[in-house]
Amino acid sequence: MRVRKAVFPVAGLGTRLLPATKAVAKEMLPIIDTPLIQFAVGEAVAAGCDTLVFVTNRHKHSIADHFDRSHELESRLAEAGKRDLLDVLDRILPAHVSCVFVTQRDPLGLGHAVLCAQPVIGDEPFAVLLPDDLLLASGPPVLAQMIEAAERVGASALVAVEQVPRDQVSRYGIADVEATSDRAARIRRVVEKPAVEDAPGDLAIVGRYLFDAGIFSLLAETRPGVGGEIQLTDAIAALIDRDPVFAYRFEGRRYDCGSRAGVVQATLDLAMASADTRAVLSTFFARNRGEFET
Ligand code: G1P
Repeated sequence: MRVRKAVFPVAGLGTRLLPATKAVAKEMLPIIDTPLIQFAVGEAVAAGCDTLVFVTNRHKHSIADHFDRSHELESRLAEAGKRDLLDVLDRILPAHVSCVFVTQRDPLGLGHAVLCAQPVIGDEPFAVLLPDDLLLASGPPVLAQMIEAAERVGASALVAVEQVPRDQVSRYGIADVEATSDRAARIRRVVEKPAVEDAPGDLAIVGRYLFDAGIFSLLAETRPGVGGEIQLTDAIAALIDRDPVFAYRFEGRRYDCGSRAGVVQATLDLAMASADTRAVLSTFFARNRGEFET
């Protein structure tokens, strides 16, 4: 499975993080100094993608700006001899990678957003990454793990999953899978945001998907579902009747960066990873030790 194209649905409102997201795209909110979208793009590029398709709207121009060159900034930094900062800018997007922006004119749901990318994807297999779900792995990035697993098991589609507390199942697409000790398990059924009592388990679909182009005809036929939106999960449910669809328990940690708690968790874990910010945490915990003792 050679996956060259990655779709980033970035037209959502991000209301859980208001007021920060009133004028700033939620995907541009930083974890320390790196915008969320940058993590998802880095993961896709590390997995071999060279064409990035952003499904966007008029409020998200800052995402295009982020991946564009800023000649003024670069020449100022060059004049000032700031090679280290020029390198930071260079690393935003490798030269061989191109960005395509597709407009989602109406907010009709995640399934509809993915369908908007069809003219760019054509007949190729592709990945979908939801940037709110920040996935960090100490080994290969999660999308690379998924591509490897899809090849190994012969999946025509594969979605990342993680176990969630039972009382949270109604926030996610939930997958019912065949029993196996493999990280990849064949899916029997998926349901978008079920009520706790109706959920077919506690394995939640998180924001990484691999598809072949066959998903588009199913998306085109998908009627509005939960919340009146065209749901990607509903198209996956139709695909299961036709093709082998797998769930993949990834190796790594997920942060729901569409939520306050997820942003704090990601910030703390990333702060631990470099000396300057780790020193700040260490001082903070020493000063507040009493607060954390029960
Ligand atoms: C979307 C999907 C859902 C999935 C979730 C992962 O929901 O519809 O199936 O579990 O992303 O983050 P949203 O968070 O956009 O409501």
